[in-house]
Amino acid sequence: MTTTPAPAGSGLKTVRGDTTNMVLNTLLFRRNLLGECERLRREFGEVAAANYVGKRVVMAQGPEAFETVLMNRDRAFANGPAWGYFIGAFFNRGVMLLDGQEHLDHRRVMQLAFGRTALQSYLAAMQASIARQIANWAAAPDFPIQRRLKQLTLDTALDVFVGVSLSPGEARKVNTAFVDTVHATTTLIRAKTPLSPVPITAWDRGLAGRKLLEKFFRSHIPAKRRDGGDDIFARLCTVADDDGAAFTDDDVVNHMIFLLMAAHDTTTTTLSSMAYFLAKNPDWQQRARAEALAGPHAPTMAELDQFDVLDRCMKESLRMCAPVNGLIRYAVKDTRILGYHIPKDTFLILPTYANHLRSDVWPDPMRFDPDRYLPERREDKVHRMAWAPFGGGVHKCIGMYFGGMEAKTVFLELLRNFEWSVPPDYIWPLDLSALPVVRDGLPVSLVTRVRSDVGQASEVTA
Ligand code: HEM
Repeated sequence: MTTTPAPAGSGLKTVRGDTTNMVLNTLLFRRNLLGECERLRREFGEVAAANYVGKRVVMAQGPEAFETVLMNRDRAFANGPAWGYFIGAFFNRGVMLLDGQEHLDHRRVMQLAFGRTALQSYLAAMQASIARQIANWAAAPDFPIQRRLKQLTLDTALDVFVGVSLSPGEARKVNTAFVDTVHATTTLIRAKTPLSPVPITAWDRGLAGRKLLEKFFRSHIPAKRRDGGDDIFARLCTVADDDGAAFTDDDVVNHMIFLLMAAHDTTTTTLSSMAYFLAKNPDWQQRARAEALAGPHAPTMAELDQFDVLDRCMKESLRMCAPVNGLIRYAVKDTRILGYHIPKDTFLILPTYANHLRSDVWPDPMRFDPDRYLPERREDKVHRMAWAPFGGGVHKCIGMYFGGMEAKTVFLELLRNFEWSVPPDYIWPLDLSALPVVRDGLPVSLVTRVRSDVGQASEVTA
């Protein structure tokens, strides 16, 4: 099966692939993402046509293809029409869905809310919020750690992103609206129920959730603009660049809703995979704990960087389970990738998850081996896009340091207070049909450690 033939005399190759059966192909990807990506490479090459996520797409694999698309030197690849297809109804005008000059203008202003001074204040708020929440965790033989981490990131976001004091009832309403909005993006029935005054489907609930969030943020903008504050919301309301460019009320609402979404599932997946790989590799859990106990209790940003074992465990978890398992782009003009002709209006998938597990890029890729990032090995440096959990180019994750800070803060707290394990034969059931989700909530045996504030030794209680 071929797609649009390469123009005669262009010297370009025509993309070939397997697009015979939409339902079957989509199912095969759902069942065995790695196997299907490998089959496409073997049969058709790094750039191949496929049916994926219910759409005809071109799958562009490997670090070289990633670099061409993400660096986007001839401005052929757009985000808006690609991400808009999946999440546009709920996250319209989020910065990731903007393109060209408009994207750069918004990103420049948003970046001011993610500078070093801002990050340091988020870190302090995050440490207090996370310590308070984890203090309520109790040892259990089947502790669903993924679900609890998801709740933890949601509650931390209310403190650090939103910074509005809410009653438990109000907080629940905002949380539910947010969860409904995110959930709606992956639902199969993708239309509003006609004429119904009450939300029936997940899509309806998503639209209602979005409306509630819009109203919520808009109502707090005047106070945030007047009083400022150390949370992300206050910063978006008050930042302005050197030319005086600032966000309008609509911008603040759209960016806040998008930022919450961009941070939530990605951070939850990062935390869940760290929990999983450290449970599967108790020697690494122990090394990370020894480091956590020896280091400062409420580290500054600079001190946080010195938790080297924890940093490498996080990097390796992000490699083995990329929280954004694939990037998408839309070709807005005829272009090329690795010598293949890509016609205008092609929908592209860049499978980060599969890239991170390729044996021709990573030695022994299925092995959890944080030492691969040691200065003498630096296996991630084989190509600038070999390790790309945060993407690359102008849309590279703006919350990369924020997310890393949150993950390390959570794990310093967990390592000091608990030990956790899974049975030796346990393999997490990972659903990769949308963003990665652990189907069983990741039950671990969670055991409380008796705190001894000196040195590394401390006991464990059942
Ligand atoms: C910790 C785990 C995280 C991972 C793995 C991750 C991953 C990514 C990836 C791959 C992209 C690029 C998407 C593309 O090119 O199409 C991205 C963009 C983005 N992320 Fe993250 N993210 C994480 C956390 C966060 C956090 C905590 C925030 C906010 C505080 C955030 C905010 C954003 C924003 C605003 C964008 C869009 C940037 C733009 O288009 O200019 N992310 N993220």
